[in-house]
Amino acid sequence: MSAMIATMMSVSPGIPPRPAIQTSPSSTSVPMKTIPGDYGWPLIGAIGDRLDYFWFQGAAKFYQKRMEKHQSTVFRTNVPPSFPFFTGVNPNVVAVLDCKSFSYLFDMELVEKKNILVGDFMPSVDYTGGIRVCAYLDTDEDKHSKIKRFAMDILKRSSSIWVPTLSSKLDTMWDTIESSLSSSTSVSYLVPVQKFLFSFFCRSLAGADTSLSPDIDENGYIKLDLWLALQTLPTVPIGLFQPLEEIFLHSWAYPAFLVSNGYNQVADFIEKEGAEVIQRAQTEFGLSTKEAIHNLVFMIGFNAYGGFSLFIPYLLGALGNEENKGVQERLRKEVRENIGSGLSFESVKKMDLVQSFVYETMRLNPPVPTQYGRARKDFILSSYESSFEVKKGELLCGYQPLVMKDPNVFEEPDKFKADRFTGEKGRELLNYLFWSNGPQTGSPSESNKQCAGKDYVTLTGSLFLAYLFQRYDSIGCDGSSITTLKKAGS
Ligand code: HEM
Repeated sequence: MSAMIATMMSVSPGIPPRPAIQTSPSSTSVPMKTIPGDYGWPLIGAIGDRLDYFWFQGAAKFYQKRMEKHQSTVFRTNVPPSFPFFTGVNPNVVAVLDCKSFSYLFDMELVEKKNILVGDFMPSVDYTGGIRVCAYLDTDEDKHSKIKRFAMDILKRSSSIWVPTLSSKLDTMWDTIESSLSSSTSVSYLVPVQKFLFSFFCRSLAGADTSLSPDIDENGYIKLDLWLALQTLPTVPIGLFQPLEEIFLHSWAYPAFLVSNGYNQVADFIEKEGAEVIQRAQTEFGLSTKEAIHNLVFMIGFNAYGGFSLFIPYLLGALGNEENKGVQERLRKEVRENIGSGLSFESVKKMDLVQSFVYETMRLNPPVPTQYGRARKDFILSSYESSFEVKKGELLCGYQPLVMKDPNVFEEPDKFKADRFTGEKGRELLNYLFWSNGPQTGSPSESNKQCAGKDYVTLTGSLFLAYLFQRYDSIGCDGSSITTLKKAGS
């Protein structure tokens, strides 16, 4: 087990290989072109694009329409936020929307990742205790290496309690849902899922037991929800009432003090109950107390809790989708045949279909849909059809929901195929699964910006499914509620 985890989390230096997509011409054989598209009139161009993005088209259609208009997967456009109260933010980007051009974002010799987690706009550091946390640091910054190694060390050390903690938190979550369902025909699972995720990640990543603080146990997840929502608001479509959303929610950045009370309570809790992990960050990785606390809270609250709060509903949504009829039976069979003496990393690694189901969910619903990279120097970027000159300082913007439907790579790209990633051919496709800001076959390391939790995330998705089909024969669900739960053997 420890050997497996060590292999899984090994720090491999270097850059994940840029996928060599067989069906594409090589970058040297495709003709040079000027990047199509423009940024329009100053201010007005950016506002028009912002309204399309948030209101008239939505993000997916926004990129799709422009891709069709320019007959190119690489083009210039503006992305929000923009005018009037984002004066220091440059909305101009070069969109990269196929697997080949998107993969330039993983090449740390060509792109820089300083302060561009959500684009040229960066939420105030007041949201993160006054410091720039790991996700905003470039690989060139010394601190990035230290914190990334700290993150990977946390995961490695937590591996021994990961599965038992997950199982016990899932027991509580499903008991709650089951009991609500006994008196109702449909139960929203969002609150139970978020409570489960919050207490699971506090315990597994920081060693902090939420039951020691009644307020944190009951309301910690709400404090994180508010903190997450407010800092990302300028870049996230809400889908409420337009034009009110544009006027009040997308026109300026909200100050952190509105949520700092709740954030500080969570940070204080982690400082106290996660003292051992924080101590290690200082002694073994050379971080200050402040850096250790706020990076740990960011990993728990933003990376882990934020990512999984989207991922789990996507997973349940895919399970309950009518189009995937019959898949539950196949998943259940595979789980029960391979679970052996109980849930473990080893047992789910034998479950090919379960893992493929998780990968396919990630392909069609990447929880972090947009990635950015700023050109460190002038370079030539290629799509399948053309090569383009990118100038130093230009911001590349990849929108994964379209990239992951690249027809050069994925057959019937719009279709959810549960077994797409099984077998030899399926495993080859993992080179092109990019949800973690790198290929699923790549290794997160201090020299790249790939998600530190890459393997833990997909394995946890598989453990979640394996637990489910060990406990239930079938489940009726969608992206927000449960309608039926048929207990195993009942
Ligand atoms: C569904 C869950 C998750 C998703 C979708 C996700 C996705 C991502 C993505 C896309 C990035 C790169 C962002 C960018 O630079 O553009 C990232 C970075 C990161 N993730 Fe995750 N993540 C998840 C869970 C986790 C977990 C459980 C951890 C555990 C500690 C984690 C730790 C990190 C860290 C530390 C970084 C920064 C990497 C760096 O700066 O080099 N993530 N994640």
